[in-house]
Amino acid sequence: MMVVSGPTSVSRRYHGHAAGKVILLGEHAVVYGSPALVIGLDRGASAEVQLSEVTELVLGDSRHLLEPEPSAEEALPARAFRALLQLFSAPKLTARATLALPAGAGLGASAAIGVALARAITELSTARGLAVPSVASAALTWENVFHGNASGVDTAAAEQGGCLWFRRGQAPERLAPGRPLTLLIAQVEQGASTRRMVEGVATQRAAQPARVDGLLADIAALVERARVCLLAGEHGELGQLMSRNHHLLAELGVSTPALDRAVSVAEQAGALGAKLTGAGGGGCVVALVDGARRETVREAWRSISLSCWPAPD
Ligand code: PMV
Repeated sequence: MMVVSGPTSVSRRYHGHAAGKVILLGEHAVVYGSPALVIGLDRGASAEVQLSEVTELVLGDSRHLLEPEPSAEEALPARAFRALLQLFSAPKLTARATLALPAGAGLGASAAIGVALARAITELSTARGLAVPSVASAALTWENVFHGNASGVDTAAAEQGGCLWFRRGQAPERLAPGRPLTLLIAQVEQGASTRRMVEGVATQRAAQPARVDGLLADIAALVERARVCLLAGEHGELGQLMSRNHHLLAELGVSTPALDRAVSVAEQAGALGAKLTGAGGGGCVVALVDGARRETVREAWRSISLSCWPAPD
């Protein structure tokens, strides 16, 4: 009898994918329990895992070999991967992750990688009959190594995609916009560390609690109103709320001159509204446009050398 050998369990590869995200309104305030509106992007991250002689994470061009015991110098991705793996009882494995998003630009790259890895390891573990944690909790554990105090909005959007109403500690609610949204995203400059930006707001809040809590409450009120506009398809008002959200974020100290300029260039070119998205300190701006103004806004951004693309594409 001839035996034709198929792929063995050693060589089999398991895959996971996840979305990037753009926060429409509510970043930073969401860390303190206010709601946020977030939209998953079609671009995101992919991961592939297979059993191996060692445990390692290959992220693009960088390879992180996990020693049995962590060293004090262990790089952040290796620490995050170690924390994620501790929730599984998976055997040694090699994981490779690739990104189709700019990293560190407020588009949820690290959360997308965390969700893609958690999904791929879940597939491998399930095939071996091993218990698995929820993808959400595994990805949040990964994300917290990078961000320290992640609200979970990025990992929720990375896992679920679509348009979500998110509040920390609660199950995200899927929303159906009353009319399709036309969004444009411009990459303005390299983003700052989310951890540093979130800590910066916390430091200000400790120094000036009334002022910062007032700004956070104002942002929360905009997000509540934006939900109504989104569901009703009232894009004119939704855009205005986004622009007001940008100005409150600037008062919180998380905008930059380049982000402010990208916002006002979009507004002058006829965007319904625009704001920074994500932690700020750099990164991206998102604009809401009506179809007729799409090319005008793109052209205005191109004229100041910003690359931009439509979302959720
Ligand atoms: O990691 P970023 O840049 O996409 O920002 C996430 C949004 C924050 O509200 C600033 C942080 C959080 O965990 O919600």
